[in-house]
Amino acid sequence: MGYQQIYQRYKQQILSGQLKPGEKVPAIRVLADDLGVAKKTVETAYNILCGEGYLVSRGALGTLVNPDLQLQQHQAERTAGLQDAELQHLVDLRDNAGYFRLGIPSLDEFPYKKWLLLSGKAIRAMRPEQMLLPPVMGLPALREAIASYVTISRGLNCTASQVCITSGYKHSIALILQSLLQPQDKVIYEEPGYFFGQKLLKRIAANLHYVPVDKEGLNVDYLLQHHQDARLVICSPSHHSPLAVTLSLPRRQKLLAWAQQHNSYLVEDDYDGEFHYTKKVLPAMKSQDQADRVIYLGTFSKTVMPSMRVSYLVLPKALVNSFHETAEIVETGQPLLPQQILSRFLSEGHFFKHLKKMRALYQLRRQMVLAAMQQVFPGLFQFELTDGGMHLVAFLRHGSADQQLAAIWQAQQLLVFPLSAWYATSQKRYGLVIGYTNIQSQQQAVELLQRVQVATEALLQQR
Ligand SMILES: Cc1ncc(COP(=O)(O)O)c(C=O)c1O
Repeated sequence: MGYQQIYQRYKQQILSGQLKPGEKVPAIRVLADDLGVAKKTVETAYNILCGEGYLVSRGALGTLVNPDLQLQQHQAERTAGLQDAELQHLVDLRDNAGYFRLGIPSLDEFPYKKWLLLSGKAIRAMRPEQMLLPPVMGLPALREAIASYVTISRGLNCTASQVCITSGYKHSIALILQSLLQPQDKVIYEEPGYFFGQKLLKRIAANLHYVPVDKEGLNVDYLLQHHQDARLVICSPSHHSPLAVTLSLPRRQKLLAWAQQHNSYLVEDDYDGEFHYTKKVLPAMKSQDQADRVIYLGTFSKTVMPSMRVSYLVLPKALVNSFHETAEIVETGQPLLPQQILSRFLSEGHFFKHLKKMRALYQLRRQMVLAAMQQVFPGLFQFELTDGGMHLVAFLRHGSADQQLAAIWQAQQLLVFPLSAWYATSQKRYGLVIGYTNIQSQQQAVELLQRVQVATEALLQQR
């Protein structure tokens, strides 16, 4: 390799933004060793780059990319958007800072000190053998702790052998489809339904159909009438996403009986089943699953933190071996350290304490946001308060302009979602889906809502 090639590589990296102003480049001797060239070759390339102003030499500090370089815009920031504009919009909302975001635990009340302490302990307890590949079904201690938690809190009757650790909803669903289904098997999703779930299933389930949801949850009669032959139904019985309604007991029984008769499976997405604020709480549907047809999906995204990416499946006993085999074939297990920290968080009792505190806090914050909505927008929205969850749905009393309205709110950093966007077919309801878990006072909520008061009134009163 000659000096010109080295020069060209550096220049290109600097111009493309991969090397940023102020960043250090390797010492001449180190780079020469690395590339297997003479020191003189590297020195010549660096001299030209310094001469042209791309690099500066700072004596003992070494050689840096010129901190004064004014690059137009870094390549990474200029990457083209996603092809699917709707998906791009969802991703922007998910990743941007703002208020009323959906499905995020209260970050201001997270027990950071405790978490750091447990993280330190978990790291110090790390032994060389734990640097090998992790167990594909998950850390045994965490599987034990989860089995015990779901048995006590969600009424399941399971053992650790049925628990499989996954890295989130999409991973769980993909694993279920890979383990259970043939390509043409019919899959049923709720309508409306979690938008990222819809996006995934449209891509990986060739024979996808929808069943409507009403005040009692999934319309099981509709399922029996139109899709008797389905192989898999994916639903959220505790708090439907996004309507937050609970699947009624008679419907649960009908659904379970249908699954048993037809050898079909039900996926119970219990993503925020921990947060219920009334006394009439139904246990998880899987607790009534005598025929073992329910695959239960839990996540720590709502109870601990989404960035950790730890979720789990509780499998029917008869499926454990086939899931284990699929998992061994398609993956290599999940990172061990977060599982070790979490397992301590659960087994030392901090998780239960945290949940109890969050339940009370979310109930309070829901009340505050509801009161603020009614104060700032009297008569414009209608609420159908349900058992719990982490968001409110503010239904429009008139009209169908929820997409336009959400765009107005989003422009003011109020990251609500239009309800109609959750529907895959044309029978829609209209409203805003509002996360309340990170709003700290009614006053704060009122001030935020006042940002969009005039524009909201103008839009909704026109109709
Ligand atoms: C309906 C629904 N299911 C599941 C999840 C859990 O997602 P994950 O475990 O991938 O963070 C979410 C999170 O937003 C959700 O809204």
